Amino acid sequence: MNVEKIRTFVEDLFDELGLSEENAKTSADVILQAELTGVLTHGLAKLPQYVARYKRGAGNNDPELKLINEHGINRLYDGDNGSGLIVGPKALEQCIKQTKKHGIAAVAVRHSGHFGCGNYYAWKFAENNLIGIIMTNTLPLMAPYGGKQREIGTNPVIFSIPAREEFPIVLDMATSLATFGKLQIASVAKEKVPTTWAKNKHGLPTDDPDEGLAGTLQPLADHKGYGLAVIVDALTSLLAFGKFGRNIPSFEELMKNAHEDISHFFLGIDPASFYPLDQFLDYVDSYVVYMKNSPKAKGVEEIFLPGEIEFRKYQAAMENSITLSEEQDKRLLGIVEAIGEDTTGFAGLSQWIEEHY
Ligand SMILES: NC(=O)c1ccc[n+]([C@@H]2O[C@H](COP(=O)([O-])OP(=O)(O)OC[C@H]3O[C@@H](n4cnc5c(N)ncnc54)[C@H](O)[C@@H]3O)[C@@H](O)[C@H]2O)c1
Repeated sequence: MNVEKIRTFVEDLFDELGLSEENAKTSADVILQAELTGVLTHGLAKLPQYVARYKRGAGNNDPELKLINEHGINRLYDGDNGSGLIVGPKALEQCIKQTKKHGIAAVAVRHSGHFGCGNYYAWKFAENNLIGIIMTNTLPLMAPYGGKQREIGTNPVIFSIPAREEFPIVLDMATSLATFGKLQIASVAKEKVPTTWAKNKHGLPTDDPDEGLAGTLQPLADHKGYGLAVIVDALTSLLAFGKFGRNIPSFEELMKNAHEDISHFFLGIDPASFYPLDQFLDYVDSYVVYMKNSPKAKGVEEIFLPGEIEFRKYQAAMENSITLSEEQDKRLLGIVEAIGEDTTGFAGLSQWIEEHY
């Protein structure tokens, strides 16, 4: 599928669901960024969930970013119970604006929703030659270390460092070892999973994906990933005075149209306020080259920097196109049906888009 055709299709889809032109465009960009950078769990595959929530009127389709508090370089916003695909980028824009003005700025947001893949936000900071730190909490899927009940999200942390000739250094990672989606895939395929991925409802490691799906995901690097997830909760929900733990609606409650009640945190730092920007960007480039040229272990073809693999995937997808698996292509045709369009005779979304765009 041609990238621009699919982007226009997603924009039109959101427009059809009542989003403003600007919000439809931004939301489509976040989805496309995930798809193009290979974060497929957060790309087109997630569209049916967003569409279903908009159709049911589960969130605010036209949210306003409401300033609750402003003090010096810090701002707290209320996301008006809108989708994170709208609220996240709006809050980011404010953080970038303030960082450019003050050299450093922090923005916390409450009453938002799932904001998509983290590298969208990282790239925006980098495009503006800013360093960015981004966090979001999520609905609980992990237990506190030593616990057995879902209390904490897979709370991703994202760091972004701009470069000049090179790609930006972007560390964008969940604080769980594996995602819920990976367990779902293994469950459908009736495959075992590593015992490090999940625990059963008694808090014991399991290789059965279904037991894991009913239990909890394991944090990255045991107590360290758990600790990091706690810090993300602190800088998102606690700092924004949003919800945490099981007060954040579960998947089941979301199906009953509960507000998502997710909080985000954005911190921008302008390297130009430390020493001249050109010098900094050149220095980052030299750092990238240095790391990539480090001697490789036996059997390793290339050393990567964080964010490099996603950057390469983006470049390749922009040069070529997006290809969906047959199963996903067929499944995604459902979103066309969901907005009342006739899909008779179409084998999948790709075919429908080719015909209509
Ligand atoms: N919005 C939400 O609620 C939410 C929750 C959890 C995760 N997410 C998103 O899910 C996505 C996937 O998260 P993940 O933890 O599975 O990511 P991942 O494990 O695929 O990658 C994590 C990081 O490691 C880097 N990396 C991967 N392989 C590497 C290598 N060989 N050498 C050097 N660096 C390498 C990547 O560039 C990335 O920065 C992210 O975009 C994240 O923001 C979102």
